[in-house]
Amino acid sequence: MFAFRFLPRRLPRFTPLTALLLLTVVLPATTAFGGSPPPLPAGHEAPPAVVERIDELRREIARHDDLYFRLAEPEITDAEYDALKAELRRLEAEWPDIVTDAPPVPEIGDDRTGFFPTHRHIAPMLSLDKVTTEEELEAFDRRVRQALGRDAINYWVEPKFDGIAVSLTFENGRFTRAATRGNGEEGDDITANVRALGIVPEVLRRAVADGRAVPGPDLIEIRGELFASYEEFERLNAARVTEGERPFANPRNLAAGTMKLREPAEVAERRIELVCFGWGGFVPEDGRPADLRGFHEWLAAWGLPVVEEPEMMRGIEEAMAAVRRIGDERGELPFPIDGAVVKVAAVEDADVLGWSTTAPRWAVAWKFAPPRAATRLRGIAFQVGRTGAVTPVAELEPVEFEGATVERSSLHNADEIARLDLRIGDTVLVEKAGDIIPVIVGVDRAQRPEDSEPFAFPALCPSCGGPLHRQPGRAVHFCGNRECPERVARTIEHFASSAALNIRGLGPRTVEALVREAGVRSAVDLYRLDAETLLGVSGIGERTAANLLASIEASRGARWERVVYGLGLPGIGARRARSLAAAAVDYEALLDVDAERLVAGLDDGGAGLSASVVGDLLAELALPETRQLLKELRDAGVGSAPELSGTGPLAGEVVVVTGSLPDWTRAEVVALMEAAGAGVRSRVTGETTLLVAGERPGSNLERARALGVPVIDAAELRRRLEEN
Ligand code: IVH
Repeated sequence: MFAFRFLPRRLPRFTPLTALLLLTVVLPATTAFGGSPPPLPAGHEAPPAVVERIDELRREIARHDDLYFRLAEPEITDAEYDALKAELRRLEAEWPDIVTDAPPVPEIGDDRTGFFPTHRHIAPMLSLDKVTTEEELEAFDRRVRQALGRDAINYWVEPKFDGIAVSLTFENGRFTRAATRGNGEEGDDITANVRALGIVPEVLRRAVADGRAVPGPDLIEIRGELFASYEEFERLNAARVTEGERPFANPRNLAAGTMKLREPAEVAERRIELVCFGWGGFVPEDGRPADLRGFHEWLAAWGLPVVEEPEMMRGIEEAMAAVRRIGDERGELPFPIDGAVVKVAAVEDADVLGWSTTAPRWAVAWKFAPPRAATRLRGIAFQVGRTGAVTPVAELEPVEFEGATVERSSLHNADEIARLDLRIGDTVLVEKAGDIIPVIVGVDRAQRPEDSEPFAFPALCPSCGGPLHRQPGRAVHFCGNRECPERVARTIEHFASSAALNIRGLGPRTVEALVREAGVRSAVDLYRLDAETLLGVSGIGERTAANLLASIEASRGARWERVVYGLGLPGIGARRARSLAAAAVDYEALLDVDAERLVAGLDDGGAGLSASVVGDLLAELALPETRQLLKELRDAGVGSAPELSGTGPLAGEVVVVTGSLPDWTRAEVVALMEAAGAGVRSRVTGETTLLVAGERPGSNLERARALGVPVIDAAELRRRLEEN
C-alpha cells in the first residue's frame, strides 16, 4: 500500500502504437543524429488524423513541460515523456509544414515561474543529446573523430545527476548569482535560495593544486546540478504524509520544488546537495583549463563540491565500459542518477566541435532504460475517494521488482485503460517512474489470451451503485452521491487524520464499520457516538470503545486550522488550510466568506491561486450539506482551542517572539498573546504574520526581514494588547 501514496495524478495517454513502441524497450533517439525519414514532396496534404495527433501531442507536451519545469510536479515518467516527444518529432519530420492550433513545442522547456527576478545567462544553458544504445554512442564517437581528424580521443565520463540544473556566477572570486536554466537564455534568479542551503562558498578559495596556484577567473558561470538524496527524500516525505501533504514523487521533484520555494527559510530546512561539473561564461577565455580533469581539480581546490571519481577514458570502448560501471553502481548510490555523460575531455577539441542550437557536439548523455518487469493483469479494482473520484487500480500477479513486490498499480482513469486497450489476463509491462512508482507502460499483445475482451468501465459506482458521471473535459469518473458509503468513509478518515482532528483509532476498517453499522454519515456524527453504539459495531471491544470516545472528545479542542483542513474542502491542503483559517477565523466567517477575502487570504506562496480553486471552494461552501455540517460542528463545539476564538486584538496573527522583553517573562508574553487570540510559534516561517523583537534578538529577526514579516517592539505589543 505504501507505494500507492506516490502514484502520479495522471498517467500518460498512449496510442496502441506508442505502447508497442515502448515494448521494444529501446526508445527511438530524439537527437539531431537520430536520423528521420526524408520529408515528403511539397503539396502533400497531411491526413486530418495526423494533424489532430500532432495538435494533441503539442498540447500534451506543453502541459507536461509546464508541470515538469515550472511546477516541478510531473505526472508522467521521463520515458513516457520522451516517447511522446519522439512521436511528435517523428510526425513533424514526416509532415514538416504542418500548422496546428497548438503552437510547436520548443526544443528546450522553460522552468521560469514568474516569482523570481529573471537572470540572463552569459553563455546559454543548453541540453544534452541522448543516446540509449552502443551503436548510437559509437556514432557519436565517429562524428567526433571525423570532425577532429584523428582517432585518439580522450573522454571524460561522469554520472548524469537527476536534479535541477544551476548556474553559479562568481565575479572576481565572489559568489554573486545563482540561476536556474529557465528557457536556456534566461533563468529564475534563485540566489537567496541557494545561499540558504549554505553549500556554495561566498568566496572561491585561492588554492594550490598539483603544486601550482589555481587561477581565479575574473568571471565564471559554474554549471552544476542541485539534487536530493534518497534519504532526504524519504525523511521529508514521511513528514509530509503525517502533515497530510502530498508527498514528492521522486527526489528530483523535491530538489526542483525546493529551489522554487519563495521562502529561503524553508529552503534552509531541506538538505539539497550540489555537484559542479562545467562552466558557461569564462573571462578571460584564455584562462580556461586545458581539459576537464584540470577543471575538476580547480573546482575542488576552489571549495566546490565535485563529481566523485570521474574517469578519463582513452577511446569510446573505454568510455562505454565506464558508462556500464556507472550503470552497475547506480543501485548503490545514495542519490538518483538517470544516465552517464560522455564528454570530449580536451577543451581545445570541444571548441572545434562546438554546439548545435540545442546541445554541445562534444558531449552526449547515455540514458539508462528505466527498470521494467512483465507480469499479468489479474483484475481491475476501483477506489472511491472522498471527492467521489473513482480510480481504477490494476491488480497484478505479484512480481519482484527492484527489491520490492509490486502487485498493484494505479491506472488513473478510463481513458488510460482504453488507450492501453488493457484487458484482464493481459501480460503488462510495469515500469518504475522516478524509481518509485509502479506504472503500466504497455501491453504485450502477442501474449493476449484469445478470448479476452475490451475492458468496459463500469457505469455504476462500485460502492453505492449510483450512476457515475464525467465532467466535460475531465477524464475522471465521479460518484455524485455524497452519501456513498465509501466516500463517507474516506471523508471521515480524512477528518480524523493526524494532520486534521487527530482522532486515534479511526483507521480505514474501523471507519468503514462505523459507516456500515453505526449509522455514521458525516464527521459530526462522530461526536454523537456513545459506548453502547460503539460496542454494537463489529471489531470494537470495551477498551477500543473507551479509547475512541476519549480521543473523539479530546479532538473537540483542536485548533481551528485543523478543523478547516479536516473539512476536506476542494483545493485546501494543510498549507492552504492555515491561510484559510487565518482569513476566516471561525465558523461564522467561513460561512460568510466571499471571493475577495478568499483570494486575499489564500494567495500565499507556492503556485498562486487559480480562479477554479476559488470557484470550487465557494461552490462547496454554498452547498446546503456543507453549511449544515459547519453549523452542526459549531454547535458540537468542535475546534474550541484559543485560536478559534477569533476575537481579541491579535486574532488570526501567527506571532514569534525573539529576544527578551522588558516587562514580561517568555511564558507570560506567550500566555498574554494567546489570550489575545494569537497563535505563538518559535520560528519565523512563511505562516508567520508578526514578529515581536525584544533586546538581543536572534536569527528570527533576520528571517522576518528577509520574508517581509512586520516587526514590532515590546511597547507596540503592549499598545496592541491594551487595544480591547
Ligand atoms: S554537462 C549542456 N554533466 O543534464 C551542458 N550535465 O541534459 C553540458 N547534468 O542541464 C552539461 N549531470 O544540468 C553535464 N555530469 C553532468 C551532468 C549534467 C546532470 C544535467 C545538466 C544539464 C542536463 C543536460
